[in-house]
Amino acid sequence: MSANSRPVGVFDSGAGGISVLKTMTRLLPREDFLFYGDDKNAPYGTKGPQEVRALAENAVRFLLDRNAKAVVIACNTATAAAAESLRARYAMPIIGMEPAIKPASGCRKGGIVLSMATPGTLKSEKYRRLSEKYGEGVVPLPCPGLMEFVERGILDGGELRDYLQRLFAPFQDQKVDAVVLGCTHYVFLRSVIASFFSKGTPVLDGNLGTARQLQRRLTEEGLLAPEGQKGTVTILSSGGEAFEKRLKALYDTPLMEELPGPEALQ
Ligand code: DGL
Repeated sequence: MSANSRPVGVFDSGAGGISVLKTMTRLLPREDFLFYGDDKNAPYGTKGPQEVRALAENAVRFLLDRNAKAVVIACNTATAAAAESLRARYAMPIIGMEPAIKPASGCRKGGIVLSMATPGTLKSEKYRRLSEKYGEGVVPLPCPGLMEFVERGILDGGELRDYLQRLFAPFQDQKVDAVVLGCTHYVFLRSVIASFFSKGTPVLDGNLGTARQLQRRLTEEGLLAPEGQKGTVTILSSGGEAFEKRLKALYDTPLMEELPGPEALQ
């Protein structure tokens, strides 16, 4: 197998990374992708940075053992905790994510931006630096317990809406100009989250930016899949077969319709 034919490894604590995977397969249809959901150890977002670093290290080793030519950390929490140390240790391209507060801050029209993410992401040094630059009017909104809905396959319904109602209640009298989905799991909840805000309020994620960054890095390193390769997707989970089935079902969910179509990605 030539170096370029090898798969791109992708991991997350679980289902969230599937939303990133979906965007990447649209942008780079020739690539083989190997996805690893660490469902057994989810959630990452309420664990300390050291523990998340160790879990991310295991995930990267899992992907390298299966011949990955590059790794995408499809998780904001793991990127914040581990991207730097992973890049220091491994030579291959390692692509991470960050909450899309930069584009969101450009949507401000006198109101606020809600930056939804895990407690781990929002407490991180990486987020502090990002928010020093682009954080004016951006309100960090930790959402412990929200990713679990997606892990359980709950993408709408009373229990989820009650959770969100409580979460957004303090902001109901404020003008919200944009909402940031700073955790890859929340991308599956975009429609239900959007329904709490005025019609047309941008609800932004970092998935396309990450996919484009992967494309750039593979191009720079001469690692793009060869012409004519028919891309494949393999989905594995540390949680065993039941989780693998759930991840595959999410990969096929029509809820991804908000993604830009292939024409927009050219
Ligand atoms: N999907 C992950 C993120 O983007 C983490 C969710 C979790 O494990 O808490 O932050």
